[in-house]
Amino acid sequence: MRNNFKNSTVYQIYVKSFCDSNGDGIGDLNGIRSKLRYIKSLGVDYIWTTPFFCSPMIDNGYDVSDYKNINPMFGTMQDCEAMIADAEELGIGFMFDMVFNHTSNKHEWFQKALAGDKEYMDYYIFQDGLEGGKKPPVEWTASFGGPAWEYVPSLNKWYLHLFDPAQPDLNWENPKVREELKDVIRFWKAKGVKGFRFDVLNLISKPEKFVGLPAGSAHRCCKDGRHVHEFIRELVTDTGIEEMITVGEMASTTLDNCIRYTNPDNHELSMCFSFHHLKVDYKDGDKWSLMPPDLRKLRELFKEWQEEMSKHGGWNAVFWCNHDQPRIVSRFGDEGQYWKQSAKMLGTFIHMLRGTPYVYQGEELGMTNAHYTSIDDYDDVEAINYYNILLQRGISQNEALKVLANRARDNGRTPMQWNAENFAGFSDASPWLKLPDNFTSINVDAEETDPDSILNYYRKLISLRKKYRVISEGEIRFLDTGNEKVLAYERTFEGQKLITVCNFSGDYEKISLSIPEGEVLISNYEDGQKFGELRPYEADVIYNV
Ligand code: GLC
Ligand code: CA
Repeated sequence: MRNNFKNSTVYQIYVKSFCDSNGDGIGDLNGIRSKLRYIKSLGVDYIWTTPFFCSPMIDNGYDVSDYKNINPMFGTMQDCEAMIADAEELGIGFMFDMVFNHTSNKHEWFQKALAGDKEYMDYYIFQDGLEGGKKPPVEWTASFGGPAWEYVPSLNKWYLHLFDPAQPDLNWENPKVREELKDVIRFWKAKGVKGFRFDVLNLISKPEKFVGLPAGSAHRCCKDGRHVHEFIRELVTDTGIEEMITVGEMASTTLDNCIRYTNPDNHELSMCFSFHHLKVDYKDGDKWSLMPPDLRKLRELFKEWQEEMSKHGGWNAVFWCNHDQPRIVSRFGDEGQYWKQSAKMLGTFIHMLRGTPYVYQGEELGMTNAHYTSIDDYDDVEAINYYNILLQRGISQNEALKVLANRARDNGRTPMQWNAENFAGFSDASPWLKLPDNFTSINVDAEETDPDSILNYYRKLISLRKKYRVISEGEIRFLDTGNEKVLAYERTFEGQKLITVCNFSGDYEKISLSIPEGEVLISNYEDGQKFGELRPYEADVIYNV
């Protein structure tokens, strides 16, 4: 039963930037409704939407103040119901984004807690400080910079927030909290939602005591915590969503934990997002320090995760892009001469892997980073905080802007590029976040009419997973190409064999791997498969060799 998502592909929508239906410069639910036919034309099965619930939008909706109501900025409950129904008619299911590690500080629960209501204080993680309350229980840093504890003078206590101070962490040890959250799931399930994405789910189980723990990143101390597997199993089984598609976002997790999260025997999730492969260009592990991608590391990570998951019955979400990542073509590909080839190669590499592929809006067009040149162009709380942190570290403004231009999350959040007209067809009004200049050439309209476009290539990639069980279900083994810039892997299933070879470089690359003749299922060069040497960013998929 639980295999029904294995030949599926998920399309991710960043609601605020997908399509604006009422001319206020902000994407909305009716905008999504108006584009469902386009999404259907891609061949995807599910849509994951980023949160559009009531929120003060300090972290663009990842700070929820009411889980069961729609932020008026995005529409109404009626719009939401209509959106679900319209998609269902097209055979597409929605996966809603559940932000359960924390709420907004404006959530009723937190407001009651702040007022000193003991019952609700126990919904969050309030602790006494050290030295008579002056210092937090442990010196931890939050993900968006700054300390992870906030002092509340009226209570003389500190509360934990792994992200912004406006995002207090929930206390999952409290069974009442777990019941409240189950109730949210049941609410959306009853509305016809077909699956769920769980935000930073491996951070929910906190240490029993904080005093005396090592200082440093709060994230690192809370990941894959002591009760996390129990909590997930309880949430999933008590709400009856085990047969639905579920994906947990796992921050700084381990392979062993991800196998446990996703092996059906454990009754937890369908799949996980892990992020190690998106850190191979972090210098010394620091997101805010630039370095070209380490391709040897990239191969090692994919080899280990893919092969081990396959051996131990785990299942991963496979992806390059989401609303927290810069655009992949700007990052591991080439925005210039080989824009098309490199975007297609990167797509091929992901879509032939073992796992469920996620396509992030605009990735199927080869959308690029934003190329902002002023701090005023940015919106994201993380970008703005880190800009100041970089300046404090003594880095020049220009250098800091260069880091942001490569790493800021806003690079992936610019409005969807629908056509070459005003505001890229996203809105009639100036959008909430500035468009990159290249929307006049990179857009849906332009790519619809070009048979050789990235868009049409993605459609083909998605359809192959439906046709070939070796893609959706096969085992995987990484191959040695004798060239660290060329990654190759083999999939096998009931006598069928599939080989994928991808050149991650903009040069001609020789490989020692010899590949016998076979049917070229897809290639980003017209006359595919010219082995021994690969052309810049060449990708070939050979069947039944
Ligand atoms: C996840 C979301 C990100 C958000 C964070 C805090 O990583 O994807 O956008 O800022 O969690 O909720
Ligand atoms: Ca709008």
